[in-house]
Amino acid sequence: MRHLMNPLDFNVEELDRLFDLANDIERNPAKYAHACDGRILATCFYEPSTRTRLSFESAMTRLGGRVIGFSDANSSSAAKGESVSDTIRIISSYADICAMRHPKEGAPMVAASRSLIPVINAGDGGHQHPTQTLTDLLTIRTMFGRLDSFTIGLCGDLKFGRTVHSLVNALSRYKNIHFIFISPEELRIPDYVTDMLKEKHITYEEVIRLEDVMPMLDMLYMTRVQKERFFNEEDYVRLKDFYILDPLKMMLAKKDMLILHPLPRVNEIAVEVDDDPRAAYFKQARYGVFVRMALILTLLEIEV
Ligand code: NCD
Repeated sequence: MRHLMNPLDFNVEELDRLFDLANDIERNPAKYAHACDGRILATCFYEPSTRTRLSFESAMTRLGGRVIGFSDANSSSAAKGESVSDTIRIISSYADICAMRHPKEGAPMVAASRSLIPVINAGDGGHQHPTQTLTDLLTIRTMFGRLDSFTIGLCGDLKFGRTVHSLVNALSRYKNIHFIFISPEELRIPDYVTDMLKEKHITYEEVIRLEDVMPMLDMLYMTRVQKERFFNEEDYVRLKDFYILDPLKMMLAKKDMLILHPLPRVNEIAVEVDDDPRAAYFKQARYGVFVRMALILTLLEIEV
């Protein structure tokens, strides 16, 4: 039995198969409409979410399966003190596969070690968010045409942003990618990420001003300042509007640069940018459903 804890749990060939499947699902949805008839997905969300939980639910429903679960730790037995290990033992007899989000780093991993069904990490604290990374990779592969040889800028909260940590990790396996980390000093990318890049001889730079590097980017991955992971309100208020991508800044960018964002957006991308053909974030959210459909089929070992 297989779980998904980290984007690196799949090798590059397996990822290619997963993305081919996701592209086929997008082209031929009817072919997959009953692939999960009679199967149940449990969504166990101990932390708020809109896209991730609903895209999992949409994915399972579009495959003909059903969904059970909770979206708030307070409405589950966690509020009574039940451990994640016990909860998953129970869920194992209620469902065939489980997507779990948890504020504690490593909690889905603990669950996976006790589970009798595949567990998908749907985000654990500031650590990893592998299904967002699969969404990002599928978007890049489909819209940009390849997963190698580009310069990507990652901008915003690089310290607490788990989507950034997961994506850099996953992209580090592809050739000829140059990373530009754009953040205020306080929200710099963690050393463990740059240490990994150094070890693999992958080039990167760290800058503060977005304008300075804009013309070099093939892709810009914007992120929100992660309010819920700040220790004090003052720091959040000071940093929350540090970057605002607006039409003026977009004039500095390449004609075909892709703008990605895991969403939710707060203020970091002005709404006027949404109409720019380079804005890919709403399409990216759509790819999130296809990739989760492909993931559910893969982990349940269902062939269509
Ligand atoms: C991200 C997350 O939860 O980390 N959201 C998502 O799943 N698309 C990004 C964020 O909350 O900023």
